[in-house]
Amino acid sequence: MNTTRYDGSSEGWRRIDGQSGAAARYLEMMNEVLAAQKRQTMDLLNLGPGMSAIEIGCGLGLDAEALAARVGPTGRVVGIDASQDLIAEATRRTTPLGLPLSFQVEDAQALSFADNSFDGARVDRVLQHLPDPAKAVREMARVVRPGGRLAVLEPDWPTVAIGGVDIDVTRAVVRYKSDVTLAHGAIGREVRRLLVEAGCTDVFVEQGSLTFGSFAVAERVLSLRRSLDGAREKGWITPVQADRWWSDLDRLDRDGKFFSGMSGVLGAGTVR
Ligand SMILES: C[S@@+](CC[C@H](N)C(=O)[O-])C[C@H]1O[C@@H](n2cnc3c(N)ncnc32)[C@H](O)[C@@H]1O
Repeated sequence: MNTTRYDGSSEGWRRIDGQSGAAARYLEMMNEVLAAQKRQTMDLLNLGPGMSAIEIGCGLGLDAEALAARVGPTGRVVGIDASQDLIAEATRRTTPLGLPLSFQVEDAQALSFADNSFDGARVDRVLQHLPDPAKAVREMARVVRPGGRLAVLEPDWPTVAIGGVDIDVTRAVVRYKSDVTLAHGAIGREVRRLLVEAGCTDVFVEQGSLTFGSFAVAERVLSLRRSLDGAREKGWITPVQADRWWSDLDRLDRDGKFFSGMSGVLGAGTVR
């Protein structure tokens, strides 16, 4: 796998094939950052031995692998993703494990599976990138049997907070990230509506937060430099403001005063 050009944007994910190495490392890092939230959404699927599930936009297949452990050898898990590279990597990585797990290239908005094919469906940080996230959630509800469960974990980018720096520059940076680089940066706050509109009952949603312990981690998760440059290119902030904001973050970090965090939303519902 090539290692260049991963930028975290929705457009970037669409052209990830042939250059997915850096994206793969990002997914591995986020798998650790979001370990607790991922476990919670998996719990909400109520899966047990012998059951079946589909992981939508599975990336490297790390979550699909965890679901396979929950359904056991008599169960079935399918991971789908639009990226041929990531599906190939997920297959290569998990085939030796002998789990009841398979991967295939699919568009989350138009699944090839028949109605009622699974007991559960899970999606994690994918809806934010799709042209039509509501269609993807409807597809999840279609392929899950009545009484089965959907689980969703999505970020809410306008909630990004950064302390100790010019708040107007932060607003411009966050606006660029949420509105320019992502198809639906504020998808987290739509999770409940999407589950209800897809026909789910017993809908549960919870907003949770992440705190980034250092400038380096925040930069890795938030792509601050790219959004700062983007906001400057848009003319929302001046070059002087941009340079000062960046050096202020550096100084805050060196002095042990760096703070950044953001919210995401996890949700689940029962298919009617
Ligand atoms: C931020 S990554 C999350 C990956 C994985 N869910 C995880 O938690 O590690 C977004 C994923 O969505 C996939 N994706 C983007 N558009 C898609 C589409 N239309 N259908 C299916 N997957 C898509 C990307 O290839 C990428 O693997």
